[in-house]
Amino acid sequence: MKILHNVSLLPFNTFKMNVKAKECRIIEDENELLKIDTLSQNSLVLGGGSNVLFTKDYDGIILKNELKGREIIDESEEEILLNIKGGENWHSVVMWAVENNWNGIENLALIPGTMGAAPIQNIGAYGVEIKDVLEYVRFYHFDTKSFETIKNQDCQFAYRDSIFKRSLKNKVFITDVGLRLRKKNHQYKLDYGNIREELDKRNIQTIRPKLIAEVVMHIRQTKLPDPNVVGNAGSFFKNPEVSEEVYWRLKEKFPNIVAYSIGNNKYKLAAGWMIEYCGFKGYVHKGAAVHTRQALVLINQKNATGKDILELANIIIDKVNQVFGVILEPEVNIIG
Ligand code: FAD
Ligand code: EPU
Repeated sequence: MKILHNVSLLPFNTFKMNVKAKECRIIEDENELLKIDTLSQNSLVLGGGSNVLFTKDYDGIILKNELKGREIIDESEEEILLNIKGGENWHSVVMWAVENNWNGIENLALIPGTMGAAPIQNIGAYGVEIKDVLEYVRFYHFDTKSFETIKNQDCQFAYRDSIFKRSLKNKVFITDVGLRLRKKNHQYKLDYGNIREELDKRNIQTIRPKLIAEVVMHIRQTKLPDPNVVGNAGSFFKNPEVSEEVYWRLKEKFPNIVAYSIGNNKYKLAAGWMIEYCGFKGYVHKGAAVHTRQALVLINQKNATGKDILELANIIIDKVNQVFGVILEPEVNIIG
């Protein structure tokens, strides 16, 4: 196990926060986890660092997931079951799948980060969530000091939520994820946003997962900032879920409000629309700013500190609450 001391986390987080960690252990072999006593120390598992905001130096041990490997576990004419190690890059897994015509994760192209982090917030985009294809999650449990596997139905998956953000938070290191993809008769999800419109523009006769991934990548590149160019962690806030009653009250006052019915008499509100309505697109606060093309994304415009980003987030939360009576919650994991 490689151990680094007093290490800069700048290359390890997409918000590009220039903070340090007391120690960073690079985990390349899962048996190294058996040697770690996290009960007596602060520790944080880190994948690609694309959904974290460090607000200060980290006074503990970073466990950087570098477990690599992809394996075909089972295959039939219809389906394929893959075991992916947690440190694999998610987008590369998507590209591998679409090149092989394995269907199910094409809408999740270009989401940064690792396989191991994907179940944590049940990553989702363009009408698909990882829960739709996930078979199992294997992890090392720091309390029991053993490797355990849980099935999809025990992961408590919901919108940007899972058991790993609840009772298993900070207790496990996800080592493997099982994905079941379809080789035939896949029901593509093309109704979100302008996927179908983009496919029509390209005059596509036969739909293949690779074409959908390309369309999704194109749409994302027009809206979302590239973390290699400007520091960010994707959507900073979750889209809030409200009751039907609250939705209709808001709709009456703000007829153009963007919302989706999600069943159970609930609606999901587009937080980006609300933030833009409040006039925040392009708004700058110290080194932090609201992205000009997607108001749900906060960016590190110029040497922002975690404190600058949090101050901006709080200014937005207060204003949106004042205008709409809705409290936005961060999606990004705040580490401080
Ligand atoms: P990290 O940021 O390293 O970690 C995130 C959290 O998970 C932390 O709390 C960490 O402690 C924990 N964690 C990480 N790995 C493990 C592990 N192996 N075991 C236990 N705990 C772990 N998300 C979406 O859902 N949909 C999107 O469309 C999307 N678009 C994005 C676009 C951009 C430009 C960016 C920068 C981010 C986007 N995100 C999106 C957020 C992010 O890509 C996902 O949350 C991703 O799964 C984070 O992976 P990571 O490896 O970088 O996790
Ligand atoms: N909108 C605005 N102004 C904005 C941003 C959005 O009016 O500045 C409107 C759009 O016009 C659209 C609606 O809000 O009508 C939704 O926008 P978009 O399709 O861009 O999606 P989003 O709700 O802003 C969510 C996810 C993204 C995911 C996309 C695509 C959350 C918190 N965010 O964003 O995930 O890629 O849908 O499925 O659910 C992430 O989690 O980091 C992330 C990027």
